[in-house]
Amino acid sequence: MTTILRNAKTENQTMIRAEHVNVFYQDFQALYDINLDFEKNHVTALIGPSGCGKSTFLRTLNRMNDQVPGFRVEGEIVIGGENIYAPKTDVAALRKNIGMVFQRANPFPMSIYDNVAYGPRIHGIKKKQVLDGIVENCLRQAALWDEVKDRLHTAAMGLSGGQQQRLVLARVLAIEPGIILMDEPASALDPISTEKIEELILKLKKSYTIVIVTHNMQQAARVSGHTAFFLNGRLVEFSETKTMFTNPKSRQTEEYISGRFG
Ligand SMILES: Nc1ncnc2c1ncn2[C@@H]1O[C@H](COP(=O)(O)OP(=O)(O)OP(=O)(O)O)[C@@H](O)[C@H]1O
Ligand SMILES: [Mg+2]
Repeated sequence: MTTILRNAKTENQTMIRAEHVNVFYQDFQALYDINLDFEKNHVTALIGPSGCGKSTFLRTLNRMNDQVPGFRVEGEIVIGGENIYAPKTDVAALRKNIGMVFQRANPFPMSIYDNVAYGPRIHGIKKKQVLDGIVENCLRQAALWDEVKDRLHTAAMGLSGGQQQRLVLARVLAIEPGIILMDEPASALDPISTEKIEELILKLKKSYTIVIVTHNMQQAARVSGHTAFFLNGRLVEFSETKTMFTNPKSRQTEEYISGRFG
């Protein structure tokens, strides 16, 4: 799967393709016929009012909903030419290639160093020198190295919220995913930490395909190239972010982004 993801090059550099996706929780239909392409090395934002299905859709992209009782998906999510819901899919390998960052930073209850080394260790890397290199490199990429380099072996829980979120990002980067999914990664952070996360997203998009759920329109405008607007489980509009915020196609989009509902 790593090779597939890294070499995933179709004509228009599509990394993830959702085709006719319907999602159900028991009898409740949460998503209706979603068709959406995510470009490689690009940031795509998912916006829409609470309960419209953003998180459901995001979690459908890495099979995070599989454990939810009553969850059922129809249609296809195609990554690197393969439907990830096909029976032969190696879900562990899929997840290794799709990192996820949540609203609440969730560092493991261990040291800063061990948080970042966790994934590589699970994948069989044992040499201290190699792990040291990975830890430093990922913490640098996550713009956290300078703040923690002298306390790598202290508890991750002792970091501030903003630092914890960057640590989680470093932990995600350490598994070398092709895709990073973020569900409101900055909504619990102060403005300065938020700015750091946004700067990171812009930097990371050179090497990663990023999908970010956000309630913050300015944030979507700052970090994303394309934006998808969801309403009541339906994809109402998918446009270049610039276009969506200046000249939306749909009246419903216009009402939402101008703050008339949601
Ligand atoms: N595990 C679940 N079981 C049953 N219904 C669920 C489950 N998770 C979500 N839903 C329902 O699916 C719909 C979409 O929820 P989802 O969490 O995807 O919305 P969201 O757009 O992420 O909202 P928010 O902005 O509040 O995070 C909602 O009606 C929600 O109640
Ligand atoms: Mg959500």
